[in-house]
Amino acid sequence: MRTKIVAGNWKMNKNLQETEALLSELSAMLPDSTAEVIVAPTFVNLQAAVNSLQSSTMQVAAQNMHFADNGAYTGEISADMLLSLGVDIVILGHSERRAYFGEDDALLAKKVKTAVEKGLKTIFCFGEELEDRKSGNHFSVVESQLKNALFDLDASAWKSIVLAYEPVWAIGTGETASPEQAQEMHAFIRKTIADAYNAAVADAVSILYGGSVKPNNAAEIFSKPDVDGGLIGGASLVASDFVAIIEAI
Ligand code: G3P
Repeated sequence: MRTKIVAGNWKMNKNLQETEALLSELSAMLPDSTAEVIVAPTFVNLQAAVNSLQSSTMQVAAQNMHFADNGAYTGEISADMLLSLGVDIVILGHSERRAYFGEDDALLAKKVKTAVEKGLKTIFCFGEELEDRKSGNHFSVVESQLKNALFDLDASAWKSIVLAYEPVWAIGTGETASPEQAQEMHAFIRKTIADAYNAAVADAVSILYGGSVKPNNAAEIFSKPDVDGGLIGGASLVASDFVAIIEAI
């Protein structure tokens, strides 16, 4: 049985006071759920988030990390620094990191390797651009992103990997992939993993959908057999919306 996950990627939003206020609201409203609930505030608010959620089932993730243990990487954060805060989940490969900060498959493979070695759980993001889908290349693009960043991992490492399929054209646009589109790609992803490894690895990995998930579309997307939850952007910044999405899984 795969783990169901609803994760909120807060991106560059919420200062310290707003972070504490939102987490207090979420803690008060959090429904009972079989799903794991994860929030990913910005780096500067991770310690406050861990402190706020000490007695909560909600978990805290970082939005990025560097592959090195330490060194001359101004502005970067290491895995050990995250672990020292009590953060053992990290989002890697988000399309905004790829687009704005030049993160490519080779760099992401190094980051994922470090995360696995350090014992962090990785939420690995990937997905096609609109022109890839329009030209019918979306499956080959997704397959390439997976192979180049993840397929050097041992089968045993996949127990610490969560996948987040996020079609770039659906992120922040309100243009959500249809439940059928999500299921089609998630099934393809799972088969690609089965072909590269085996059915056990493929069946065990949680594959989240991300890209304009909202309270009014979450239930239908989450109902699909190969959709194991969502990675939520904008809607995770509003307590009532995020709770409604959690209740939908
Ligand atoms: O990482 C999740 C994010 O990219 C989705 O954003 O605002 O479309 O839910 P949004």
